[in-house]
Amino acid sequence: MTRDLDHDTVDHAMQPEDSPELRALYQGFKDNHLNPLWTQTGDLMPVHPKPKAVPHVWKWSTLLPLAEKSGELIPVGRGGERRAIGLANPGLGGQAYVSPTLWAAIQYLGPRETAPEHRHSQNAFRFVVEGAGVWTVVNGDPVRMSRGDLLLTPGWNFHGHHNDTDQPMAWIDGLDIPFSQQMDVGFFEFGSDRVTDYATPNYSRGERLWCHPGLRPLSQLQDTVSSPIGAYRWEFTDRALTEQLLLEEEGQPATVEQGHAAIRYVNPTTGGDVMPTIRCQFHRLRAGTESQVRREVGSSVFQVFEGEGAVVLDGKTTRLEKGDMFVVPSWVPWTLQAEGQFDLFRFSDAPIMERLHFMRSQTGPGA
Ligand SMILES: [Fe+2]
Repeated sequence: MTRDLDHDTVDHAMQPEDSPELRALYQGFKDNHLNPLWTQTGDLMPVHPKPKAVPHVWKWSTLLPLAEKSGELIPVGRGGERRAIGLANPGLGGQAYVSPTLWAAIQYLGPRETAPEHRHSQNAFRFVVEGAGVWTVVNGDPVRMSRGDLLLTPGWNFHGHHNDTDQPMAWIDGLDIPFSQQMDVGFFEFGSDRVTDYATPNYSRGERLWCHPGLRPLSQLQDTVSSPIGAYRWEFTDRALTEQLLLEEEGQPATVEQGHAAIRYVNPTTGGDVMPTIRCQFHRLRAGTESQVRREVGSSVFQVFEGEGAVVLDGKTTRLEKGDMFVVPSWVPWTLQAEGQFDLFRFSDAPIMERLHFMRSQTGPGA
């Protein structure tokens, strides 16, 4: 008999005949906090990843009103620290884990509010799908948050936020909280109850030092684990994607596949990912483009930045609009379908999977 490796699990070992001695053996295991491999091989060592996390879509039209209501009812301040609402994967038992490694949340800051400073081992970023007027202060450096910007708070950097306007603002946070929690690696420390600098400069000191294409300051030749850039501005991301599609039209190699421009945000000191545990990317599909079916080890979260289209997750198609978010658990096949021009921000745990040599991927009809 042949076995379908795609759908089967490793067979359990032949089970011996039931007997009083056998039962006593299993009781002995239980009494001594032991559990034999041969009764659970299929769960512990599946033929391919079988995530408990499930593919899921969260609509911005649902997330935002709930965040706004939280703004009315829940104060932000010391203790609770942040008015952040975590996306809880339906397969992960109600915990605010969007995947086994990643946290994704919508955070909401009301007019003139301040989220107090703190720092933690966990790496964090913010991505802004709409709005402006909040500055995040990272190690004393005020960083403007505006639509389309990616803002970094690598592990153990003090950070707080303040809203300088009379309008509320919402954005998404991405962190490696579930990974840190499951590995028991987290440390946390309170900082100032207010942010340490209420200035509202257009560009942070980190950007003024680092954000000049292809130019590295000679005072900063030491590589750093995480990127020293606090903000990756939309104008640069947009220009990079626009140029990729224009180059493709001119017959030049520039896109990842026909009609699909994409960039990875990088640490300029190493050329690697912006932080040790999280990869950030931005994808733009030309109208009418359908990306190849793909599946990868590790999990990803996407947010639609602009445009309309659909995602197919494990064969199920869901239509998407601005702000909608979805998670792709490990080894789940996914593809994107663009109606008009379709812009999506993506983050994943790929740096962990690659560094530990667990990464595998498949592209094309077999995926
Ligand atoms: Fe934080």
